[in-house]
Amino acid sequence: MSLLCVALLSIGCSRKIAEPPPGPDAWLLAGTDEERFARIARQLRGFDVAMVEVGYRYGELHWAGQDGDWAFASYQLQKIRTALANGVERRPKRGPSARMLEGALGGVEEAVAAKDPALFTARFTALTGSCNACHLAEQVPFVHVRPPEVRCSPAGPLPGDGGR
Ligand code: HEC
Repeated sequence: MSLLCVALLSIGCSRKIAEPPPGPDAWLLAGTDEERFARIARQLRGFDVAMVEVGYRYGELHWAGQDGDWAFASYQLQKIRTALANGVERRPKRGPSARMLEGALGGVEEAVAAKDPALFTARFTALTGSCNACHLAEQVPFVHVRPPEVRCSPAGPLPGDGGR
């Protein structure tokens, strides 16, 4: 009986803290679990934040290809996949359209594995086309993707590999 009470009490505790503990995280910890999860979901955001990340990594991927920095290119490709998958997990309705990037990403991966600059350029152009095809399909045609002209990132190849 007392075990049951303890079990019930601990369930009660995990569901709700009447008074959030004082401190900088009080905004997050107040209320029920449902309210907390809703707050976390709002902070994680939707597909837009995934796209900001994909946009950044797309730019880095471009420069990595220009530098022949294949390890960095491969890293960026992996992270694009992760960002996209997490974005689709948060907004499943984007999933069917997101699949249109699959082939193009695989194509760039092949070029990177082959360390082939000309193939990379061709495959990167196809990737750009797929980004924009999805933007059309998802009714955000005003987000027109094109390769960057200026480097903004502090990251790049090691000095011995052609970097500064
Ligand atoms: C699901 C199909 C889909 C694919 C594939 C896709 N996008 Fe997007 N993208 C979107 C949607 C939808 C938005 C608008 C996000 C929103 O409103 O929540 C967007 C917005 C963006 C934005 C603007 C983000 C902002 O809020 O400032 C950028 C940059 C972007 N995408 C880059 C890319 C790049 C680069 C690729 C290809 C590597 C790509 N996207 C592939 C659907 C896609």
